[in-house]
Amino acid sequence: MEPVDRREFMKSMAGTAALAAADFPSAAASSPGPVFLTTWEWGRNANERAAEVFRSGGSLLDAVEKGINVVEDDPSVTTVGYGGLPNAEGVVELDAALMDGTRHRAGSVCNLHMIKNPISVARQVIERTRHTTLAGQGALQFAIKLGFQPQQLLTPESLKKWMEWKANPDRQTFWLKPGRNHDTIGMVALDGQGRMVAGCSTSGLAFKIPGRVADSSLVGCGVYADDNVGGASATGDGDLMTNYCTSISIVQFMARGASPQEACEEILRRMVKTDSRNRSAQAAVIALNPRGEVGAACMNPQFQLKYALWKNGANQMCEGKALYE
Ligand code: GLY
Repeated sequence: MEPVDRREFMKSMAGTAALAAADFPSAAASSPGPVFLTTWEWGRNANERAAEVFRSGGSLLDAVEKGINVVEDDPSVTTVGYGGLPNAEGVVELDAALMDGTRHRAGSVCNLHMIKNPISVARQVIERTRHTTLAGQGALQFAIKLGFQPQQLLTPESLKKWMEWKANPDRQTFWLKPGRNHDTIGMVALDGQGRMVAGCSTSGLAFKIPGRVADSSLVGCGVYADDNVGGASATGDGDLMTNYCTSISIVQFMARGASPQEACEEILRRMVKTDSRNRSAQAAVIALNPRGEVGAACMNPQFQLKYALWKNGANQMCEGKALYE
């Protein structure tokens, strides 16, 4: 994707004329060193691991994959990997995607059962196939063929939660109206030499309709990365995110000159412009450009985005800007 002139883009964005100041610098203009930007509280552990892998000679793809594995393996995170809350039938159904901004190459899996590290299977889709996305049984068979071990992904806690949900005659289902948390791990990373990778992994909406696929495994929706421009990831209501091709939209705003923060805010505003009810949506986004500049925003404080930022050797927790009340 070619960056376009920042001033031209800003002229085309309503209400942002004041920001039309400087030309968008080339990716190679400065080297901020490695940066790891990851959604939610668990992003801190993911960043630590990613930085460790990268420091010890791993590639940026290795770093993002291994960083996300930490959260997939953690049973206390009930929205990702092992211990993720199951679908309406009590089956843990995982989605993940990984994109290499250098090769412009993505791999993803969706509706994957019994394999706790879908991001690693997505990585193998990149490295061993000419495909981009594998789903369901095919994804499972692919993983088994490569030596991934199938296992029960329900923990006693997630089974208990599903049984409570199932036993509740007033339970909320997605045949009606969604209203639960869904907190993906999304990571966008920069190696300091201009290479970018973005990845995300999720068990999706708790008690979703079996077969549902949302943003996390859809390239351009849950993740997108392009060395020339930047990378982005989305977390929250993956059905909403899919309808706005959220991550590629953010990267395209950046290509036209927006900063990562401006680009994150712009996509959320567009969601509200097309439907004002989206003000109360669970929607949050992160973005990073090759200069190491970060963007992070969420729709409202009820879904307050927290994210971990690893930069210059420090790993800190921050909050994204909430745009609406
Ligand atoms: N954003 C994760 C999901 O809705 O599946």
